[in-house]
Amino acid sequence: MLIKRKRGWELKESAATPDRVFHQRRALIKAVAAGPLVIAAAPLLATAACGDEDGEATAGRDPSARLYPAPRNPRYRLDRPLTDKALATTYNNFYEFGSHKQIWRDAQALPIRPWTVTVDGMVEKPITIAIDDLLKRMPLEERLYRLRCVEAWSMAVPWSGFAMQAFVDFARPLSAAQYVRMETFLDPDVAPGQKAFWYPWPYVEGLTIAEATNELAFLVTGVYGQPLPKQNGAPLRLAVPWKYGFKSIKSIVRFTFTDRRPVTFWEEVQPREYGFWANVNPEVPHPRWSQATERVLGTDERVPTRLYNGYGEFVAHLYKGVAGERLFM
Ligand code: MTE
Repeated sequence: MLIKRKRGWELKESAATPDRVFHQRRALIKAVAAGPLVIAAAPLLATAACGDEDGEATAGRDPSARLYPAPRNPRYRLDRPLTDKALATTYNNFYEFGSHKQIWRDAQALPIRPWTVTVDGMVEKPITIAIDDLLKRMPLEERLYRLRCVEAWSMAVPWSGFAMQAFVDFARPLSAAQYVRMETFLDPDVAPGQKAFWYPWPYVEGLTIAEATNELAFLVTGVYGQPLPKQNGAPLRLAVPWKYGFKSIKSIVRFTFTDRRPVTFWEEVQPREYGFWANVNPEVPHPRWSQATERVLGTDERVPTRLYNGYGEFVAHLYKGVAGERLFM
């Protein structure tokens, strides 16, 4: 009998998910609701139904709407067309609202005003600031970045926001701080995914201070010339395009400067498969699938994945001399 063995990247999306998480995900979907399954079965319908509605609605109500579009910084160029807005805003990972891709409708439950951001830990002066006050102090710009998900799909997005360097300057960390730990909101009443006790909520991510102050590290508040839709991580998310997408934490409420390396959400869920560094490298496969190529969302194309997602000129130097670390997972 001929048994056709699929290669890693031919696996279904369900397979491109940690084993434990996948089975838990099934349990969660059953437990949470039948609704999302119906939406998942009709992605085209969901996309068509959403169209501009999400962006327009967010823009209409969001007090920061007048800040967009922000001037584009021409330094960051793409090698491919931008992903269609309707796709980038309806095909999302946001486990707080479910483990399928069509969470955009459920994510509308997230209240994004009032929203405060706390800066604490090893800083000169801890502070909690309202997002709109923070926005007044930060230099907004637009940047075109690629995003490469660890699940081997990619998109190209016009983010608006500010350089994380500007935020670090505002936070004034002590010289002994070596990392910044970031945390997403915690509210299982609005985000039913957070009722899944097997995940270590809230979602946590981390960067070294050198990474956070690299020119590419970007704090995102808008996309496609409008305030960020909730499903993409409003009102404040990270974009670190040389790393797998799971590092780009959404809906951040806290930045803690520390001298201890944070244990991140996915690292805690499955340390054999997800680590702290998570830099993109086509030659280092995920333990269960290849990272050599990626599916470009909105096209039929698979293209070769590039080291550091093609951003090596900006970031490769950060990892020279970092020995004995799993830099690429
Ligand atoms: N942040 C939080 N809080 N929760 C999440 O589930 N998913 C991550 C990342 N940030 C996630 C998150 C993953 S796996 C990816 S690929 C990107 O968000 C997806 O961002 P997008 O939905 O805007 O494409």
